[in-house]
Amino acid sequence: MPYGISPTASAGLMSDLGEIDLARAAARMGVPCTAATNSLTPVEDIFEASDGLLWFQLYMWRDLALRNAFIERIRSIGIRTLLVTVDGSVGSNRENDYRNGFSMPLRYTPKLIAQVAANPGWCLRVLAPQYLKRGAFMKANYPPELARKLTDKTVDHEHTKSDRQCWDDIMRIRDKWPG
Ligand SMILES: Cc1cc2nc3c(=O)[nH]c(=O)nc-3n(C[C@H](O)[C@H](O)[C@H](O)COP(=O)(O)O)c2cc1C
Repeated sequence: MPYGISPTASAGLMSDLGEIDLARAAARMGVPCTAATNSLTPVEDIFEASDGLLWFQLYMWRDLALRNAFIERIRSIGIRTLLVTVDGSVGSNRENDYRNGFSMPLRYTPKLIAQVAANPGWCLRVLAPQYLKRGAFMKANYPPELARKLTDKTVDHEHTKSDRQCWDDIMRIRDKWPG
């Protein structure tokens, strides 16, 4: 039975180098790990830790030029397997997120602030390194035009979401992807 690690962009919120650790652990076990478009660690760094056994999950950005440039970047890293997420135009519906008050973009709710204050270890190991490296939790793979903090409500859905994707989009991606 084939195994692999699915993309979970929020892994970087659990541990500063969560995405790198996942890729390293998967490589040790000989199973592929999928780096996410929205990861908090640049895909180049994750690839380095993966021993070459890294897949990449792509969202269908609406802007073709940005999408193609991104695909080219992923290809040039040496990644050979691309997974395209096609249900990204609608938000996730995870009941435990509702129960826990977790949402993306992150919202500064009293509960979140209390939880952060109650977890100085997490602040030291996860929050501080991210702020020192990038000034905030950021989607590390986004080009400067699209770069946003995880707390920014004005996420540019115009570019990053597409509700009109179809097989032609898959064909366009296939044309650019040799793997
Ligand atoms: C916390 C979390 C983050 C996720 N992040 C992504 C993501 O960035 N990109 C993506 O395509 N899927 C993402 N997913 C979806 C998973 O890759 C997977 O497809 C989904 O959870 C279904 O698998 P499961 O039934 O084993 O949970 C995420 C899921 C979870 C729970």
